[in-house]
Amino acid sequence: MPFFRRRLSPLRDLADARGLLVGVAVNEAPLREDPAYRDLLAREFNVVTPENAMKFGRLSHERGHYHFEDADAIVGFAESHGMRVRGHTLVWHMLQPEWLTEGTFSRQEWLDILREHIFTVMTRYRGRVFAWDVVNEALAEDGSLRDTIWLRGAGEEYLEQAFRWAHEADPAALLFYNDYCADDLSPKSDSVYRLLRRLLERDVPIHGVGLQMHLELEKPPRPKQIGRNIARLSALGLQVHVTEMDVRMKTPATPAKLVSQARIYRRVLRACLRRGECQACVFWGLGDGHSWIPEFFPGEGAALLFDDLSRPKPARRAVQRTIR
Ligand code: XIL
Repeated sequence: MPFFRRRLSPLRDLADARGLLVGVAVNEAPLREDPAYRDLLAREFNVVTPENAMKFGRLSHERGHYHFEDADAIVGFAESHGMRVRGHTLVWHMLQPEWLTEGTFSRQEWLDILREHIFTVMTRYRGRVFAWDVVNEALAEDGSLRDTIWLRGAGEEYLEQAFRWAHEADPAALLFYNDYCADDLSPKSDSVYRLLRRLLERDVPIHGVGLQMHLELEKPPRPKQIGRNIARLSALGLQVHVTEMDVRMKTPATPAKLVSQARIYRRVLRACLRRGECQACVFWGLGDGHSWIPEFFPGEGAALLFDDLSRPKPARRAVQRTIR
């Protein structure tokens, strides 16, 4: 296939030249075991997001006890390769510790647990993680507050408190609200917008919004609307990061589908980067062999920039052209 032939200049160099962050979600297993994974990661990208290693359920199997080995390994790798780290994520309704989901706590205890968790994690990485997805996916698809253990246990104030505590724990970190299906204009992105505006009006320390951008080949996205959504968010004074981009397709992938996928990457990223309102773009995995898609969306996959043998796909070149 022709796109393998010419040596590609690293995305990272092009991004550095433009002051742009391009990254991937990193998984600790291949990071430890696979030298080719490490090489490609450090060659192509200037930012990493731990895919799971910083989630509450991965960090703490017992109340008050934390295992930071995997998260440390990722942060250490990033530091030794001059890459930045996006922290992901402090408050979420999934990958929670069992002691938390199975426990019974008063409202005050819920808030104490949350505060302690935020302080424990953010203090450890103070000055080393430049941006945090403080709250992840707190809204349901109809735009209402999602019914989570945090909402039930701690009440609505958990959301605002999480940002206030995060700011106390690391005043220099950029604090993000992150969500999915809020990329273009929709009832959900309207309610993300309203939520952020309300938080800002109440002087909650929040600096940015993460658009996950999990897209589907068979449901082509609307780049113009994405551009308009980004424009209104940044008009609030917020930074905008694309935090988890992938473009999944029904497998098997064919050359024609890979070309259409590349077009989606190009058109969407162009809409994001055009006016300089979007400072970072993170893809949700290095290559198709490390993607969450086949497990979560059976029959779909091939969503990333590199194939399962870490060879660049047409999407990789499309991203390069767009950045340039
Ligand atoms: C996913 C990981 O990729 C999986 O490995 C894990 O089993 C579940 O979480 N939105 C998010 C991410 O914010 O944290 C999710 O990551 C994908 C959807």
